[in-house]
Amino acid sequence: MKTSTSSLLSLLFLFSSSLAALANTHEDFLECLSLHSQNSNAISNVVYTPNNSSYSSILLSSVRNGRFSSAATLKHPVIVTPLHESQIQAAIYCSRKHGLQIRIRSGGHDYEGLSYLAKSPFVIIDMRNLRSISIDTQNSTAWVQVGATLGELYYTIAEKSSTLGFPAGVCPTVGVGGHFSGGGYGMISRRYGIAADNIIDAQIIDVNGRILDRKSMGEDLFWAIRGGGGASFGFILSFKIRLLPVPQNVTVFNVVRTLEQNATKLVHRWQYIADKIDDKLLIRLFVRSINSTSNGKRSIQASFTSLFLGGTDELLPLMHESFPELGLVKEDCIEMSWIESVLYFAGFQSGESLDVLRNRTSGINEISFKGKSDYVQKPIPENGLERIWDLLHEEDVGAAELQFSPYGGRLNEIPESDIPFPHRSGNIYMLHYGVFWVEEETAVAESHLSWARRLYGLLASYVSKSPRAAYFNYRDLDLGVNNKGNTSYTQASIWGLRYFKNNFQRLVQVKTVVDPSNFFRNEQSIPSMSPWWKKRGD
Ligand SMILES: Cc1cc2nc3c(=O)[nH]c(=O)nc-3n(C[C@H](O)[C@H](O)[C@H](O)COP(=O)(O)OP(=O)(O)OC[C@H]3O[C@@H](n4cnc5c(N)ncnc54)[C@H](O)[C@@H]3O)c2cc1C
Ligand SMILES: *[C@@H]1O[C@H](CO)[C@@H](O)[C@H](O)[C@H]1NC(C)=O
Ligand SMILES: *[C@@H]1O[C@H](CO)[C@@H](O)[C@H](O)[C@H]1NC(C)=O
Ligand SMILES: *[C@@H]1O[C@H](CO)[C@@H](O)[C@H](O)[C@H]1NC(C)=O
Ligand SMILES: *[C@@H]1O[C@H](CO)[C@@H](O)[C@H](O)[C@H]1NC(C)=O
Ligand SMILES: *[C@@H]1O[C@H](CO)[C@@H](O)[C@H](O)[C@H]1NC(C)=O
Ligand SMILES: *[C@@H]1O[C@H](CO)[C@@H](O)[C@H](O)[C@H]1NC(C)=O
Ligand SMILES: *[C@@H]1O[C@H](CO)[C@@H](O)[C@H](O)[C@H]1NC(C)=O
Ligand SMILES: *[C@@H]1O[C@H](CO)[C@@H](O)[C@H](O)[C@H]1NC(C)=O
Repeated sequence: MKTSTSSLLSLLFLFSSSLAALANTHEDFLECLSLHSQNSNAISNVVYTPNNSSYSSILLSSVRNGRFSSAATLKHPVIVTPLHESQIQAAIYCSRKHGLQIRIRSGGHDYEGLSYLAKSPFVIIDMRNLRSISIDTQNSTAWVQVGATLGELYYTIAEKSSTLGFPAGVCPTVGVGGHFSGGGYGMISRRYGIAADNIIDAQIIDVNGRILDRKSMGEDLFWAIRGGGGASFGFILSFKIRLLPVPQNVTVFNVVRTLEQNATKLVHRWQYIADKIDDKLLIRLFVRSINSTSNGKRSIQASFTSLFLGGTDELLPLMHESFPELGLVKEDCIEMSWIESVLYFAGFQSGESLDVLRNRTSGINEISFKGKSDYVQKPIPENGLERIWDLLHEEDVGAAELQFSPYGGRLNEIPESDIPFPHRSGNIYMLHYGVFWVEEETAVAESHLSWARRLYGLLASYVSKSPRAAYFNYRDLDLGVNNKGNTSYTQASIWGLRYFKNNFQRLVQVKTVVDPSNFFRNEQSIPSMSPWWKKRGD
């Protein structure tokens, strides 16, 4: 490791100092903030220190992975919940001045908690209050502030139009800020691409506090924040998106098959049609291990969870032609409006009020999870699937789940370099595997993490190679991190090439221009190649 004076000093600082020094840094930061805010009363209303009674609830309300919610894991950063852009500008200025890092949090769903955890002293800027959405039905566009959730966006679109939708994720509490800037796959992505493919403008605050739009930031930076992740480049305030037509009624079905009902054959067969079938149809597949009701042994349950942008009458012939083995019948199909399908895929009961989409705290926070992703380019043979099932049986019932998300359609048509998200033609589907637990013991966590890593090992021979690609929004620190004092291109390219393939290099170039001093950084941020930032440790 490079042992410059500054890194020695910062080591000394970390070891000797502890909380008192940290409190001083925080106080300096707070003082700076009130000096540099247009209205210091207003700023004190949006700044939370551990002294404030609501501090913990603010900190925890957007921690979406129980793995990181213990007091031992969470540090106690100052949290700012800005109501106005000028408060963000002040926070950037004061963080730089006092050597604090910034973590930007929109919906808090980062798989590794990077929006609210950091090793060195830091501040969380939580965007929960900046979440307005304005829909222009005439032009089929919308401006969405980053603090909005997907549920709020879908709700607001449906309020204005029943025939406009947007291709983004299924979990309504996911935040627009992280999701759009990192990709955004959902149930109409085979028809319309991912969320980032449909961003047409954005507002960002750069490291110097300037507010830029598409025109003033330039096409390179605008390219980078559509899939390259926001956190490396600046502070995204809002996105302008293209809304897309959906029919008055769509059709959904969820067909469930166990091993006894030929699940393995069906999953195997699915791999030959999932990316090729009509792009109005997306058949997502969830696989879990269950206790078989028939013989008391473990079985596998495969759920074919699907959305068709059209009616049942059109869907049935399509399925009979392409995937007759599934045996889809009219009774399996339900017609509903697109917004009702959003509730359906989010797991709400039919008849539930659309208001649940605006509930920012629905879902469970205390569950811990680890997720990993892979891209599959050749069908996995049946015996490969069986080896995966064996590993699934090693986890408790309900603890682990595989998600098969089909690609093809529009996703195939877009060139790999169009935006940083590179997973296009050649991929049949993305495989996501997650494992969930509630126990707090480290040993329990370790055994689940190790299970996920073993599955990753098993899959090596079945998935994409050179690079073995992964989806950035399913962030996985197992793929490598920028170590303290070592954010070299070579090191970052270990994870960077997996997430971004050949787009990684251009991301580094953009980063080097827009944030040469590497102020916007985290464990997996794009490195700056500017020579002078390297003088500083992490
Ligand atoms: C339960 C669950 C369901 C999911 N479902 C899907 C799905 O269906 N499809 C899919 O594609 N993905 C899905 N994801 C993954 C999700 O897209 C990513 O976790 C996404 O990054 C979350 O965005 P966020 O704003 O909620 O997260 P945050 O944790 O707030 O942010 C994630 C990252 O983006 C940065 N960031 C956030 N806001 C900004 C900003 N304004 N400017 C700059 N940087 C910013 C953060 O610093 C952090 O590095 C899911 C995740 C979870 C936990
Ligand atoms: C930094 O990264 C490079 C490239 O991966 C590696 O060779 C080197 O050993 C690393 N240095 C430290 C101190 O981690
Ligand atoms: C938090 O407490 C400080 C005093 O410790 C106060 O100035 C500030 O207004 C409080 N913040 C909020 C949001 O209540
Ligand atoms: C928090 O409270 C303690 C005493 O209760 C006080 O000394 C300290 O200055 C306060 N910190 C902030 C940031 O308000
Ligand atoms: C639609 O877009 C055009 C051009 O950008 C703009 O002039 C017009 O005002 C927009 N329509 C509405 C209803 O805002
Ligand atoms: C399973 O597949 C076989 C043919 O491979 C078929 O005969 C049988 O009916 C199928 N079982 C079910 C439950 O669909
Ligand atoms: C599954 O079976 C095991 C062993 O018979 C039992 O301990 C467990 O509770 C069952 N789980 C569920 C979810 O039914
Ligand atoms: C939509 O589906 C509902 C419920 O099945 C049905 O009553 C209605 O006629 C359908 N509307 C259209 C336009 O197809
Ligand atoms: C949001 O959902 C949670 C969990 O389901 C529930 O406890 C809470 O009451 C809901 N909030 C509102 C405002 O409906």
